[in-house]
Amino acid sequence: MDRNMADTFAARLEATGRDVAALLETLLSGTVLEGEIARPDGLMAAMRHGVLNGGKRLRPFLVIETARLLGAPETAARRVAAALECIHCYSLIHDDLPAMDDDDLRRGQPTVHVAFDEATAILAGDALLTLAFDILSAPETDLPAEARLKLVNQLARASGVGGMVGGQSLDLSAERVTPDEAGIVELQAMKTGALLRYACAAGAIAAGADEQVLSRMTRFGEIIGLAFQLADDLLDVTSDAATLGKAAGKDAGRGKATWVSLHGVAAARERLDQLVEEASLLLEPFGSEGEILRQAAGFIASRER
Ligand code: IPE
Ligand code: IPE
Ligand code: MG
Ligand code: MG
Ligand code: MG
Repeated sequence: MDRNMADTFAARLEATGRDVAALLETLLSGTVLEGEIARPDGLMAAMRHGVLNGGKRLRPFLVIETARLLGAPETAARRVAAALECIHCYSLIHDDLPAMDDDDLRRGQPTVHVAFDEATAILAGDALLTLAFDILSAPETDLPAEARLKLVNQLARASGVGGMVGGQSLDLSAERVTPDEAGIVELQAMKTGALLRYACAAGAIAAGADEQVLSRMTRFGEIIGLAFQLADDLLDVTSDAATLGKAAGKDAGRGKATWVSLHGVAAARERLDQLVEEASLLLEPFGSEGEILRQAAGFIASRER
């Protein structure tokens, strides 16, 4: 990516991030919704800490840009993006817990269980998980009922036992018994890939895309999902906590097998290039309109945090 293009992409990512953060701010206000009884202040504060703390908002960006490419209504796409970010932030809060990765630092700030306490962090994650489904299913996510239902159903599958949570379970096992390469690829496709895949699929579903386009965007999401975790594992080896805003050297420290631990840094960089190439090919039918997603793939592979 040349310099100007990179600057334009960074500005667009930041603007979308700000936009989604503003919506999340509203969704995480103390306002009690119809059907709710009360929103406890302490729990709300922990949820806000876990969400409104400056993530890259890459999953929301992918939802919104895929939706834009395929002509989905913007307001609905933003809500789908916010719902997905709630799931992602919940996954991070739980991932950092002492029983899981036991991390103190996230996005350059104390993790939720450190800033609050462990029980509150568990509950904040639970509440964000359910809030995501509230946001998606609410009438304000103004899409045809069929599309909304499909978005809800697919988010459940991407997040649950056959997706992110299942992947987290396999990932913890990988600290005890080293999986083979296929095992690592599968667990990464689940723990991280599933939500990125959903991001791209969701933009297409919101746009009412046909099966062919949906499967193309789903495949695009799968490939960048693999690239995303590969880059994360690479950064864990090559970067530092000050740059990442989270601990580095964790995977080796815990004896966790990753694609990088199996094949090394140079091979991981090569594989990242291949994945970006593969992802870009999938965007060819969209011509220049696919450029921003092509850049997103490049960013995912070469990001510094
Ligand atoms: C980190 O995700 C966790 C992984 C799935 C590897 P991000 O790198 O997207 O984290 P934030 O949201 O920008 O903090
Ligand atoms: C986390 O993977 C994936 C999920 C949160 C689902 P990691 O454990 O590698 O993520 P980081 O490095 O803590 O962000
Ligand atoms: Mg983890
Ligand atoms: Mg972790
Ligand atoms: Mg990591």
